Amino acid sequence: MIDIDALKKEFSIRFGREGVVYAAPGRINLIGEHTDYNGGFVFPGAVSQSIVAVIAINGCRHVNAFACDMQLQYSFNLDDPEGPQSVHERYVYGMAREMMASGVAVDGFDVVYGGDVPLGAGMSSSAALECCFATALNDLFGNGRLDRMTLARIGQATEHKYVGVMCGIMDQFASMHGREGSLMRLDCRSGEYVYFPWHPKGYRLVLVNSCVKHELVGSPYNDRRRSCERVASLAGVETLRDCSWQRLEELRPQISDEDYRRARYVLGEKDRVLAVCDALQKDDYEEVGRQMYQTHKGLSEDYEVSCEEIDYLVDEARRLGVSGSRIMGGGFGGCTINLVKNQLYDTFVTTVSENYKVRFGVDCKIIPVLIGNGARRIGN
Ligand code: GLA
Repeated sequence: MIDIDALKKEFSIRFGREGVVYAAPGRINLIGEHTDYNGGFVFPGAVSQSIVAVIAINGCRHVNAFACDMQLQYSFNLDDPEGPQSVHERYVYGMAREMMASGVAVDGFDVVYGGDVPLGAGMSSSAALECCFATALNDLFGNGRLDRMTLARIGQATEHKYVGVMCGIMDQFASMHGREGSLMRLDCRSGEYVYFPWHPKGYRLVLVNSCVKHELVGSPYNDRRRSCERVASLAGVETLRDCSWQRLEELRPQISDEDYRRARYVLGEKDRVLAVCDALQKDDYEEVGRQMYQTHKGLSEDYEVSCEEIDYLVDEARRLGVSGSRIMGGGFGGCTINLVKNQLYDTFVTTVSENYKVRFGVDCKIIPVLIGNGARRIGN
């Protein structure tokens, strides 16, 4: 839980007045990994963990910020075309600049922010940060003029242009559109989405954070995306969403084995998201779980975004009878997402925690999933 009063107090000590409070959540994703930048489907939901900002206009062209969790204080001028160099500061600078480029007359502001989305856990703390600032700046300087999808795209543009991660739209979409108790299926090609109430009878979702820090900045994430784009371009389609299995096989002799396996994962994942939608219509959670294991196999063996610790957590989940388990998010560490029968829950979390500690000498963290609301103004 975030102590909002502590953030407000910090703001008033630093800036001698009161600010307005905004929040935006991190996300989970049931299935549909690395499909967003391939024009496919994703199945995320917002979580109860959020980034919260206390913010007030200051009447000059400067932004003065204090990131509580890092005890990091920094300032920049909104008209500076270069901006700060540190990655963390560039998120906030990028958001302000991109909002300006979208026609919002952003002026100087003071801000204190913090949150409880674990960093580097694959729960999109960066999208939460972006969406928190998008919502705040849109409200304070734009009269709420920009819609939620536009704000999500501004967050994505910040990742691309200011941080260098060529991410898809899933995380920012989820942070902006989340609804308590519902997952969402987004078609990343058309932008259409539907809410799926998520009340699986007899099952729970839980994350296990391997505490291996996942880092997408300057990472092989962009390489994966480039592989997909190469294959799509050879196939003569805009994204892999429109590439058939047959076409991929035809192309196989012309592409590297690595590109082939990456594309094979994406095509498989496209089918799995639809299989999960069918299974959900029938309340068949065992089938949902089987698809999650298949996704993990693809992410680990073909897309190669898993790691030893995460593979171990998924193997343990399978051994203990968990219905579904897989790495979640961009990969290279972070969390597994697990679909667990209620009666197995306590045994699973205790056993996996103990065994992980014995095997790797570090604690993993159990994070129960609560599906929460999207970005919003909380009040004064
Ligand atoms: C990261 C990116 C998303 C998405 C996932 C993988 O979280 O930000 O756009 O590509 O990885 O599904």
